[in-house]
Amino acid sequence: MMKLNTSLQSLSHSKCCTLAGSLNGRRSKPSRISCAIAAPPAEEVKMRVKRNENFGKLQAGYLFPEIARRRRAHQEKHPDAKIISLGIGDTTEPIPKSIAEAMQQAAAGMATLEGYSGYGAEQGKGELREALCQRFYSHVGRKPNEIFVSDGSKCDIGRLQMMFGADTTVAVQDPSYPVYVDSSVIMGMTGEYDEGSKGFGKLQYMVCRPENDFFPDLSKVQATDLIFFCNPNNPTGAAATRKQLEELVAFARKNGAILVYDAAYAIYIADSDLPQTIFEIPGAEECAMETCSFSKYAGFTGVRLGWTVVPEQLKFADGSPVIADFNRIMTTIFNGASVIAQAGGLAALQDEGFREMSDLVAFYRENAAILRKTFVDLGFSVYGGENAPYIWVGFPGKPSWDVFAEILEKCNIVTTPGSGFGPAGEGFVRASAFGHREDILEAVERFKKEFGKQ
Ligand code: MLT
Repeated sequence: MMKLNTSLQSLSHSKCCTLAGSLNGRRSKPSRISCAIAAPPAEEVKMRVKRNENFGKLQAGYLFPEIARRRRAHQEKHPDAKIISLGIGDTTEPIPKSIAEAMQQAAAGMATLEGYSGYGAEQGKGELREALCQRFYSHVGRKPNEIFVSDGSKCDIGRLQMMFGADTTVAVQDPSYPVYVDSSVIMGMTGEYDEGSKGFGKLQYMVCRPENDFFPDLSKVQATDLIFFCNPNNPTGAAATRKQLEELVAFARKNGAILVYDAAYAIYIADSDLPQTIFEIPGAEECAMETCSFSKYAGFTGVRLGWTVVPEQLKFADGSPVIADFNRIMTTIFNGASVIAQAGGLAALQDEGFREMSDLVAFYRENAAILRKTFVDLGFSVYGGENAPYIWVGFPGKPSWDVFAEILEKCNIVTTPGSGFGPAGEGFVRASAFGHREDILEAVERFKKEFGKQ
């Protein structure tokens, strides 16, 4: 039995139980002795692996899990409360029919010899790259081979950071989508966090507030390597004009910077004078790459499908093409988006799918208009919500986390505190327009009841 114990110690709990239950070649009831011998060895492991010290610089957890934690705590305290989420921008409505059917067919096909497919091209299916190009980019000179299909724009933002070294300098809009800052911190690009300024020492925060129409004063921004720019903006909901984007491109070109342009909400732009892609701006192809996603277009937050456009003309300082390194990243640490998701993406770009997808976007836009009007009527300073699914509401002089807590306590509504997006977000909260219509209307009634008397 001693010998048996020694060999079983190296097995996992479940394997151990199974093996112990089939000793002597006969299946018998698993014995409890196997659990007792799975105890860890007495001596402590002395790890030699050092933690990546940049992780220690990150401030608290990632924003949205922290909000989810506070929501859970509130629910535990008030078990009967019907909480409405206007917090994380997560889609709520069903995926349009023709898009869902294309995915059903692709999934069913996987169970047949003819329909089965294994690994696909890491860059995405040719048909899908062509359809994306035709819908969104061929009029601005981009080509299908410059479009890389992926599992989402957030994932692409994380991956693309690997192309740059720790000594790369970075500028972000302030406030901004936390992934730009946190991924730069992890890469070692930002220096230490400074409690006083509530920011990282080496990161440039391009302040975007009502006073500058949410567009940074570029004359105050120093030359930098990377510029992250989200348009229409998450979280402020502001959408840049053509003139502003021309200024941005001119700034990037003048400084030899790469503009990482996040267009995840571009389909929400209602004003036809506003550019939908950075490549509408002449010269952007030599200084910009663009990421986008089906998440907020077609309700794919759970399906996972996005893309990144890297123009052939975009080069590093040594003259080598950025597209070659991005391709290397995608072929090395990514294995192509799910073939089922890609079937859905392709359907979304056909006439019927595109119509259905546009209706879905119109639905969330109406939610945004309802929320925006409510806050305006209640007398708040309100921004966004017209060309973006986010409404940015001012609570001057009040810390955002306190406002978040007050709204949760009084209305049972989850929002997102502005300061979670950067120091210049202090004094604001963000309301997301992604929700069922009845929840949005119920949220409106609760806001009116609690904030109408002020
Ligand atoms: C948000 O709420 O900012 C977004 O939904 C988060 C995301 O898209 O990753």
